Amino acid sequence: MVFKLGLLGLGTVGTGTAEILLNPEGRNPLLKEIEIKSVGVRSLSKARSVSFPEGVLTDDLESIVNDPDIDIIVELMGGLEPVRSLLLKAIANGKHIVTANKAAIAMHGAEIFDAAQEAGVYVLLEAAVGGGIPILKPLKEALGVNRISRITGIVNGTTNYILTQMAQKGANFDDVLTEAQDLGYAEADPTADVGGLDAADKIAILASLAFGGRIKREDVYTEGITQVDAADISYAQQLGFTIKLLAIAQQKTSNGQSLQLRVHPTLLPQDHPLASINGVYNAVLVEGDPIEQVMFFGPGAGAGPTASAVVSDIISIIGILKSAQGSQRLNPLLSPEHQHYCAIAPMSELVTRFYARFLCNDNPGVIGHLGTCFGKHDVSLESVVQIGYQDSLAEIVVVTHDGTEANFHNALTEIRGFSLLDNISIASVLRVW
Ligand code: NAP
Ligand code: HSE
Repeated sequence: MVFKLGLLGLGTVGTGTAEILLNPEGRNPLLKEIEIKSVGVRSLSKARSVSFPEGVLTDDLESIVNDPDIDIIVELMGGLEPVRSLLLKAIANGKHIVTANKAAIAMHGAEIFDAAQEAGVYVLLEAAVGGGIPILKPLKEALGVNRISRITGIVNGTTNYILTQMAQKGANFDDVLTEAQDLGYAEADPTADVGGLDAADKIAILASLAFGGRIKREDVYTEGITQVDAADISYAQQLGFTIKLLAIAQQKTSNGQSLQLRVHPTLLPQDHPLASINGVYNAVLVEGDPIEQVMFFGPGAGAGPTASAVVSDIISIIGILKSAQGSQRLNPLLSPEHQHYCAIAPMSELVTRFYARFLCNDNPGVIGHLGTCFGKHDVSLESVVQIGYQDSLAEIVVVTHDGTEANFHNALTEIRGFSLLDNISIASVLRVW
């Protein structure tokens, strides 16, 4: 059975998505059941890094959402219109939707989800929040039994990248923003990133799922990072803080009925779990009962990571369709079908660094014996230090460069044979990352 996709948009995320779909080897087997039927773009003359058969690329996006052959519309264009109209048409035509468009969902989610309910189709948006981080599905499913009290996130990759570069390298705001745009992290209009609007869209989506109600986008208090100065970053560091753009949704404790929703730069104590999330990485800290705290971490923007989330939604829908259509009795994502055993590499082939601590007589040449023996077995030493004494025995610590487990253990076997000469024993052996 082949499921047909219509892709709307072939920019940063669209291209990343096509690259996964066109290269399914070693990924979930459901990917082999997908065909990209049409790809909608604005400009047909633009150079593309992925190529499609004649007729797949089109600038007639209406024809895609009206194509009766297409099962799933994957919207990766961005912006509010014509996205809203195209999605509503696709839904009315019975197509499932996958989108990365937090702005359209935060603004028009109520209308889009109402239409989808009516039409009996899914609208999935894992990529809309946190780029490659699986957060929406875990919130809906794995954490669904918890009473959520607070969600605190670094949910915009561009601003986290800018704040990190300013703090760690003293970089200039405008230069780093240009870099983030070149890396494909920023929105088409980057004021959505630096003004906190993108983070506000995302916290509205997170809060809606976590607290089980619709959120009006304008209810999210929003400040961006444009007013954060290099001097503030420096003073914050001196006082033991890191400045992060946080998006926070919190159940008010006084009555448990109302939510506080806010996005603003925040001085975080350096030992807070979110303080060490740097660069384009995002993280979402979820607090609830009985889970207490759980944190999701990963790349928050960029072609590959975001495409990973997009394609995960596509196969979620395909899994559901296959079980619903009876082509497979159980959803293949919930009930994996593989029956073969994986080939396991023997431990002797492991290549790693090692740490070994030896106790021996403090004889002249003992370190030389050790070095020669490791060298003979093709294990190169990174450092050898004689630390001190335990009782009357010298303590020697060796750290190797990368070597195979087999070679390292062959060297140890030979070293054990030095016991007559140097009274040597191996006190401990550990692997080094
Ligand atoms: P992008 O690079 O600007 O790509 C947009 C694509 O949509 C382009 O292929 C463009 O066509 C097409 N397009 C836009 N408006 C169109 C119109 N009116 N008619 C026809 N085609 C149109 O954007 P992106 O960075 O991939 O972002 C796409 C979506 O993913 C946005 O909603 C964004 O918020 C979201 N997102 C992005 C990231 C990220 O890291 N970039 C991460 C998470 C979510 P042309 O190629 O012909 O110009
Ligand atoms: N512009 C967004 C960001 C893309 O920088 O986080 C990911 O949603």
